[in-house]
Amino acid sequence: MTEIRQFDLIIHGATGFTGRLAVRELSRIAPPNLRWAISGRNSERLTALATEFDREFLVADSFSESQLDELTKSCSVVLSCAGPFASFGEKLVASCVKNKCNYADLTGESHWIEEMTAKYGAQALANEVTLIPSSGFDSVPASLGAQEFLKRIALDGRTIKSFGGYYSMRGGLNGGTLASGLKLAEDKIAVPNASRPGVFKVAALNKYATDFVMAPINERVVALDCDVDYHEHLLTPNIFVANLVRGYFGLLGWLMSCSVGRSVLRKLGPNPGEGPSAKIIANGFVKHTFLEDECDNPLRLTFTWPGDPGNTVTVRCLIHTGLALVASESQAIGFTTPAAALGNTLLQRLLDAEVCSYTCNSE
Ligand SMILES: NC(=O)c1ccc[n+]([C@@H]2O[C@H](COP(=O)([O-])OP(=O)(O)OC[C@H]3O[C@@H](n4cnc5c(N)ncnc54)[C@H](OP(=O)(O)O)[C@@H]3O)[C@@H](O)[C@H]2O)c1
Repeated sequence: MTEIRQFDLIIHGATGFTGRLAVRELSRIAPPNLRWAISGRNSERLTALATEFDREFLVADSFSESQLDELTKSCSVVLSCAGPFASFGEKLVASCVKNKCNYADLTGESHWIEEMTAKYGAQALANEVTLIPSSGFDSVPASLGAQEFLKRIALDGRTIKSFGGYYSMRGGLNGGTLASGLKLAEDKIAVPNASRPGVFKVAALNKYATDFVMAPINERVVALDCDVDYHEHLLTPNIFVANLVRGYFGLLGWLMSCSVGRSVLRKLGPNPGEGPSAKIIANGFVKHTFLEDECDNPLRLTFTWPGDPGNTVTVRCLIHTGLALVASESQAIGFTTPAAALGNTLLQRLLDAEVCSYTCNSE
């Protein structure tokens, strides 16, 4: 994109829970010459946020093609925090593709990504637009981490058939994330199963693995970039906790599947616009270990991401993705993944900004 537009970057859905955190994060780290603004549907809330951060704003309702066109013609990159994306995302994607505006978002709704790719993928390639869905906690750590892990295997002169990703984490739940899960269940969208469900001992880590709720989306994103089988799990200290966690998520899944259960979750869980407390966000962390399968001395690459996964890690990943897109660092066009589009350059940005760090047992 050679044409100069009014803004380099706009955060859309800026008045939501993650949107506001993204605005705060960008205002903290934005290079001085970056021309950025915010957008959303509610002019009153936008005025308050724009005043707080001394930004211009655009009103763009997700259902107004004219407002969205104004938005996507005015900037080079849109970062969208307006979800559930299956509810609010399509017209923005269509407008970005039409008006040659690069795009990244926070969706974990893989059926929606597939639908958007089928509808707008060819035009996105023709218009040379880069669209990177899942640029938050799902799936930047999995996408970039898997790429780095496989690079190290290749540097060893080896090939492998499969590897695992094992998470330890602490954090809270956003109303928007719950709303996205409820929307999937309500629409009776079949979420693909994780590739290796169940509880098992991970001898190399001396811990027990159990099901991880984000495995289906992360495994899908990694599979788009490599033909080595990648499976994801949550790590727990012992077999008792592993089964307890599995039972807990099983119960949640069952509640999601029936309308009474969904009403209970809506009543008890956070509403859209709400999220964990500042303390929970600050005390959160993610530790993500990539480990070779079935091998005596497996390669082990462990990433640490400080902060709450669904908020701190998510908005930092999104903002750095946006900055890399503004700097024209993408190697890919069309619907793509964090690793395929930005790979090493995004990982280096995240390491330089201390968003994550890693250790490897072979070094
Ligand atoms: N990838 C990850 O790791 C990750 C982590 C966290 C969240 N998420 C996803 O990110 C999304 C947002 O989460 P959240 O917690 O920030 O939710 P939220 O607080 O409910 O925010 C939703 C945003 O969408 C906006 N919106 C709703 N209807 C709209 C419309 N018609 N036009 C324009 N904007 C509209 C809302 O505007 P108002 O402010 O005016 O209501 C708000 O800004 C969810 O889909 C969630 O699943 C992903």
